Amino acid sequence: MTVAAVEAVDVSRAYELDGVSVSALRGVSLTIDQGEYVAVIGPSGSGKSTLMHLLGGLDRPTGGRLVIGGRDVATLTAPELATLRNETIGFVFQAFHLLARTSAVDNVALPLVYRGVGARQRRERAAAMLGRVGLGHRLHHRPNQLSGGEQQRVAIARALVTEPAVLLADEPTGNLDSVTGEAVLELLERLNAESGVALVMVTHDQEVAARARRRIAVRDGLIRSDTAHDRPGSADPDGPATLDPAPSAEPRSASGSGPGHPSGGSGGATGATGRLPRPGDGSGR
Ligand SMILES: Nc1ncnc2c1ncn2[C@@H]1O[C@H](COP(=O)(O)OP(=O)(O)O)[C@@H](O)[C@H]1O
Ligand SMILES: [Mg+2]
Repeated sequence: MTVAAVEAVDVSRAYELDGVSVSALRGVSLTIDQGEYVAVIGPSGSGKSTLMHLLGGLDRPTGGRLVIGGRDVATLTAPELATLRNETIGFVFQAFHLLARTSAVDNVALPLVYRGVGARQRRERAAAMLGRVGLGHRLHHRPNQLSGGEQQRVAIARALVTEPAVLLADEPTGNLDSVTGEAVLELLERLNAESGVALVMVTHDQEVAARARRRIAVRDGLIRSDTAHDRPGSADPDGPATLDPAPSAEPRSASGSGPGHPSGGSGGATGATGRLPRPGDGSGR
C-alpha cells in the first residue's frame, strides 16, 4: 500500500478566543501509515487533542495541508469530509460519548446508518463487533447499565464497526481504573494486530506509551520527537519513554513501520460525539 492513511504537512491550528489568537498547533508534519501503532504523549495543553481532531477530520487546519485517505481535506465540502471520516476514521474518547438512551447494539450500529446499510445488517454487524470486544452478552444494555470498561468497549466497537483504516483514541483509558484500563488497552492492541487498523493513541502514561512501536512527543504545539522502535516496551534502547524522549532515538518523519493493511480499510466509524444525528430510524430496541 502506498497511500498513507493520514498525512499532515506543516499543519497549524489557531483558535480565536475573545479576539486573541491561540496557537494550539504550530506546524506539525507526520504520516500515519496503515497498521501502525503510535502513542502520542505530551503535557496537558500541548495540542494532542487538537492534533487528533485534525487527523480525524473533525476539524480543519488553519495552515498547512492535511490529507486523509489520499484526499486533501481543503478540497472537500463539509458533507464530503463527513463521508470521508465515516469511511476512514474511528474515534474513541476518554468520555465514551455513547448515546444514553440507546442500547449497545444500536450505539455500535449508528455509523452504519450513514453508509446506507440496512437495519437488519446493521444489527448483525454491530452484534458481531460487540462479540469481538467481549460484549456479545450485553447487546441490549444501555450505557448506564454497563460498567465504564464495558462502555468503552462499546465505543471501541462503534469506532471499528465500519472497518476504518485508522483508529484515533484520545486518552481512552483516562476514565477507567488501572485494571479496567489495562484490559481496554490490551483490546485496542489486539484489534490493531488482528485487523490492521492503525492505532493512534494519546496517553499520559509513560508505560503505556512505551508499548507502542512509535512514539510522538508533542509540546507547545510542536512535535518534539517522533521515534520508532523495533521492540516496543520497557527494554527500549533509549530507556523508558519520557515527555521528551532522547534525541538519540531513530528519528522518523514520514513513513511508518506497521504491518500492511490488507483491505485498506473500506470503512470508517464515525466518532459519535454529538456530531452524529439521532438514530431516528427506528433503532433503539
Ligand atoms: N476550542 C478551543 N478554543 C480555544 N482554545 C482552545 C480550544 N481547544 C483547545 N484550545 C487550546 O489549545 C491548546 C491545546 O489544547 P489541546 O489540544 O486540547 O491540548 P491537549 O489535548 O494536549 O491537552 C490549549 O492551550 C487549549 O487551551
Ligand atoms: Mg487532550
